[in-house]
Amino acid sequence: MCGIVGYIGNKAAKDILLNGLKSLEYRGYDSAGIALLDEGRINVIKSQGKIASLESKINQLQNVTSTSSNKPEKEFNSILQERLVNAINKSNCGIGHTRWATHGKPSDINSHPHLNTAGNIALVHNGIIKNFYEIKRELEEDGVEFISETDTEVVVKFYSKFKDQGLSDIDAFRKVLQRLDGSYAFALINADSQKIILAKNQSPLVIGIGDNENFIASDSATVLEHTEKVIKLKDLQIAELSANDVKLFDLDGNTVKLEVHHMHQVSSVAEKGPYKHFLLKEIHEQPAVISKMLLDAYSVATEPIACFNNLDFKFSQIDKISFVACGSAYHAALVGKYLIELWAKIPVEVNIASEFCSFPVLHGKNNLVIGISQSGETADTIAAIKSAQSAGAKIMAITNKQDSAIFDLAKPNTYVTPAGIEVSVASTKAFTSQVLALYLLAIKAAEDKGLDLIDIKDELHKLPLVIDQVIERADDYHAPFLKYANYRDFLFLSRGVNYPIALEGALKLKELSYIHATGYPSGEMKHGPIAILDQNVPVLSIAIDGASELEHNVYKKTLSNAEEARARMSPSLVIACDSNRDVENIFDEIIRIPNISQFFSPIIATIPLQFLAYYIAEHLGKDVDQPRNLAKSVTVE
Ligand code: AGP
Repeated sequence: MCGIVGYIGNKAAKDILLNGLKSLEYRGYDSAGIALLDEGRINVIKSQGKIASLESKINQLQNVTSTSSNKPEKEFNSILQERLVNAINKSNCGIGHTRWATHGKPSDINSHPHLNTAGNIALVHNGIIKNFYEIKRELEEDGVEFISETDTEVVVKFYSKFKDQGLSDIDAFRKVLQRLDGSYAFALINADSQKIILAKNQSPLVIGIGDNENFIASDSATVLEHTEKVIKLKDLQIAELSANDVKLFDLDGNTVKLEVHHMHQVSSVAEKGPYKHFLLKEIHEQPAVISKMLLDAYSVATEPIACFNNLDFKFSQIDKISFVACGSAYHAALVGKYLIELWAKIPVEVNIASEFCSFPVLHGKNNLVIGISQSGETADTIAAIKSAQSAGAKIMAITNKQDSAIFDLAKPNTYVTPAGIEVSVASTKAFTSQVLALYLLAIKAAEDKGLDLIDIKDELHKLPLVIDQVIERADDYHAPFLKYANYRDFLFLSRGVNYPIALEGALKLKELSYIHATGYPSGEMKHGPIAILDQNVPVLSIAIDGASELEHNVYKKTLSNAEEARARMSPSLVIACDSNRDVENIFDEIIRIPNISQFFSPIIATIPLQFLAYYIAEHLGKDVDQPRNLAKSVTVE
């Protein structure tokens, strides 16, 4: 889950590369670097830390005035310095990389681009090479030395070996790729050829075709800043780019026909506007997203759901639904299970995508596997979908990114949430839009089976008003939540349709504030986790009542479990509706939300938990939009 960029053409490359890396920073920001080709030499500038650190390093290099001196080593340094500054200012061919560390800790030496020993070949890589140790040992036996801990350095030195044998750029790369086992998006430059060589397998890589210039990036949005003519490389393809030409080959060296797509210009520029952080902005965008989804789905409850007319199947044909997803998307899928089984009476299983391929995949043609993914590029989810597809299941995708890998895999059975660009790494509006999509899917499945859900559709239409009201209470939540900013552990509990929201609340707090937070089904707490409870472990429960016997039983048991926690001296908080009086004698802190029945409360109950995580993370001075160790799109398994 790194981001790579490249440029070759008639303009200075440096700013194009740096701006491209900034739009890819969501893919990882442990370190960043660029390699620039100038006057037959490769110049690499790279550093640990975000792109801003790389930019300031480049600015420092440009501003250092060369001090003339008669000492040879100083003379040599000033020549190197001059070459570097010339390359920064003049080079029109280069590659760049922003890293999320997989092999080797975040450090200057492990950052990309990586060079061969002679320093005349540079490589950037997104992915994981599984058999790199084996290749590294072979090269070391040939006397090759390594300075980093990365798989990428092994690849560039392996490539260099074939170049030293006189092979062409493409043939040398073919030799390397035929040996590699793993995922990659590579971009490589040679000092002796004004070209960029690409190769792709399982990690995304896109070429943008310009006039006498060509662009490369890990996603189409980044190249669409410059051109609307896009080539999406396919697995096991190699490309050779010059300023005015693109050649495509397969691993056997056969030429492959170019497929140029004309993609609408999307603005990859998201602005914070009046908000201090993208996270806060995206929390506030949720009412608009929810309203748009409901309006696109149906205008009156008597109308059938219209937003799934593109599906090439009916749910009446489906025997079992399996969700595959990660993180927040997995939590959304858990909500979907309750709703589909409750209203459409179809058995549903929910799988953490990375676990899905860890056991035999049993599927038939009447099984539906649904991948949920905001980015549409999550490698674990892609692998799970491919595994289900090869087992004969029907595939569907719920994603926030049109034309993403998961979207392409599942076409035409896709639903694109209209949450818009979600810049903050912690998912908020994408999560709640996934949950709403699953409400709509449950209704669609029921309608396919001839079940009438007019009352449910009526109730759903109240959501935009209620979510607006709960967001209006943000300031009321601030002081109560900050009381809990210095605890080191936190437990989130609920049952039924809100158990996944307890998981989501724990994930938000964990990933934003780095506090150890865990979500549990309320009933499960007494089977072990209760042992950790004392005055140092706050417990937050989500306790929402409802008109049905099922909802009321879930609610009453949630309250009694909360009392068990309080009996262990844990500070106790509850998310409860305005009219709920039961909670007043049980909890230390009552976080009120507008009245709503339990089955329709997941989205509403999520909002205060988003503010809890945001306020505490901001209070603790954490990097709210780019928490440490994370990335917005996890494109490695
Ligand atoms: C959400 O807050 C997390 N950042 C993360 O768990 C995310 O939901 C997960 O990586 C799945 O991403 P996807 O929806 O793009 O597949």
